[in-house]
Amino acid sequence: MAMVNLNIDGHKVSAPAGSTILEASRLASIDIPTLCDHPELTPIGACRMCLVEVKGQRALQPACTFPIAEGMEVQTESSKVKDARKFVLELLFSERNHYCMYCEMTGDCELQSLGYRYGIDHWVYPTYTQRFPVDATRQYFLMDHNRCILCRRCARACSELVANHTLGMRQRGANSMIHADMDVPFGESSCVSCGTCLQVCPTGALVDKRSAFMGRDIETEHIKTTCSQCSLGCGTEIVTRAGNVLRVEGDWDAPVNAGVICQAGRFDPLYDDRQRITKPMVRTNGKLSETDWDAALEATAKHLGGADGKLGVLASTYATNEALYLLAELFGTQLQSKNMGLLGSVAPTVSDKDASLEDLSKSDVILVVGADPAKDQPVASFFVKRAIDKGARLIVVDGEDNGLSPMASMNLQMRDIDKAVEVAKRADAPAVVYGPGVSTPAAKALKELADKAQFVALQPGVNTRAAVGFGLNNGFDASSADTVFVLAGEQALEDDSVLDKLDNDAFLIVQASYESPLTQRADLVLPMAIWSERTGSLMNTMGLVQQAAAAVEPQGQAKPDWEILSLLASKMDISLGASFDDISAHAAEQLK
Ligand code: SF4
Ligand code: SF4
Ligand code: SF4
Ligand code: FES
Repeated sequence: MAMVNLNIDGHKVSAPAGSTILEASRLASIDIPTLCDHPELTPIGACRMCLVEVKGQRALQPACTFPIAEGMEVQTESSKVKDARKFVLELLFSERNHYCMYCEMTGDCELQSLGYRYGIDHWVYPTYTQRFPVDATRQYFLMDHNRCILCRRCARACSELVANHTLGMRQRGANSMIHADMDVPFGESSCVSCGTCLQVCPTGALVDKRSAFMGRDIETEHIKTTCSQCSLGCGTEIVTRAGNVLRVEGDWDAPVNAGVICQAGRFDPLYDDRQRITKPMVRTNGKLSETDWDAALEATAKHLGGADGKLGVLASTYATNEALYLLAELFGTQLQSKNMGLLGSVAPTVSDKDASLEDLSKSDVILVVGADPAKDQPVASFFVKRAIDKGARLIVVDGEDNGLSPMASMNLQMRDIDKAVEVAKRADAPAVVYGPGVSTPAAKALKELADKAQFVALQPGVNTRAAVGFGLNNGFDASSADTVFVLAGEQALEDDSVLDKLDNDAFLIVQASYESPLTQRADLVLPMAIWSERTGSLMNTMGLVQQAAAAVEPQGQAKPDWEILSLLASKMDISLGASFDDISAHAAEQLK
């Protein structure tokens, strides 16, 4: 890589050709203040906070957009620079409502922090002369235009990262406002509630309704983890305060998603109003009543021991690798049950190759076959849409209500898969995204692209790939099971679809986090911790094994999925690993 040498504040700095002054300064740990700049977004030089003095230039230049050149001399904190930045801040503080003490972001706001840095101790100009509306029509967060500094990070994030293009700017000058879809209320716009704009906003203009005023960053903990809501396994951070989950943010360092997450990962789990199960329960005289762990495990062990070969197992694909490994070992290997199935479908294997989401965004033709990522794995759809923005052609081979159909150049039925395959054959960098809806003939046709295309299999459950790897997708037969163990976890099972599969007389043991028709029918219920309360590993749909970390204690007497199975095995005098690390290592070994 060609390097360029320059001088910044008297220091010799060397940076790759094509870097901006801001990038070169960061490489040399020289701090230049910014507001509109964000490392994941294209710089636009809008706020002028990063102005620097470049020898030979008549005016101060924005470091975030100005390219470096050999021998360049830069001053980042001269008095001229500091005066200019202070002037920019005086204008920003005067223009709209920046009465910090009443703002949700006080203490965490980038504008406020720069105000302190450059000594903004009074309003130089008349302030808050114009009142702007507050738009609270979105379910999860609101937009207070009075706190907006028009940095356009939100609009760029919506376009560049989410490829949703909901946000733009209307009017000019002091009347400028961020707007949605040519000026409709945000709640009625094309917004998909991913919250990426919320995450990049530097001020209190975009406010998370649930965690507003619940604590400044210094009072919170950020726990890096893996999202457990779909098979992509996006990297997230759970933000907690005093043992409570305040919100979820995207992890900018995560290999899968590079910071972008979706509504299901950021908001939905915090709005889950299903009834938690917090105590073990046993059915006596036809009625479920609370019991203690020891009695519940004792009764479970007794029934499993006496099942006499008529034992069935159903597993949620939302469980951790450790739990699925223990389930397969305990029931399959130790108790010799072959009657094991999954709660949910599985996508067939079309290719052994695993592309990344980043690979998708570099493709020139993308086939989406038997999968609906916009609905089921939204971040994958963001990467597909990024590719479309760069000129890629999308062909959807699925039902008519596929979420990506409006963006497709062709919408085909499964029987017309050959037409899609022909187009992909002629492309330079084709990609195939497929899911459980792919038919057997379509899977066969797609194999013709094996040497040419990138493949992403979108499994419908969170940890389907691991569950299949542990042999749990054996085909469950209710008619030959008189004792059934269901690891339901936190999977949504509101309807009777699982119950319909079971024999009415079967003894039913359910390990679950939430009440459902299944737990109401159960003879024994073992309360399980949820996504924010349990540690474990998850294998995503591309085969990447990642860690999920507990951020808070389990509610009531609930226990992590793997711990319940480990205690149950001990109760049956079966040793399946001495500790979590031991079990985790065994699970990882089997998934290799
Ligand atoms: S929430 Fe997501 S889709 Fe909606 S405006 Fe913000 S970035 Fe765009
Ligand atoms: S809402 Fe936030 S991110 Fe968007 S322009 Fe205003 S201050 Fe910037
Ligand atoms: S796409 Fe899936 S893994 Fe990523 S944030 Fe959304 S639900 Fe979580
Ligand atoms: S950060 Fe450079 S102009 Fe805004």
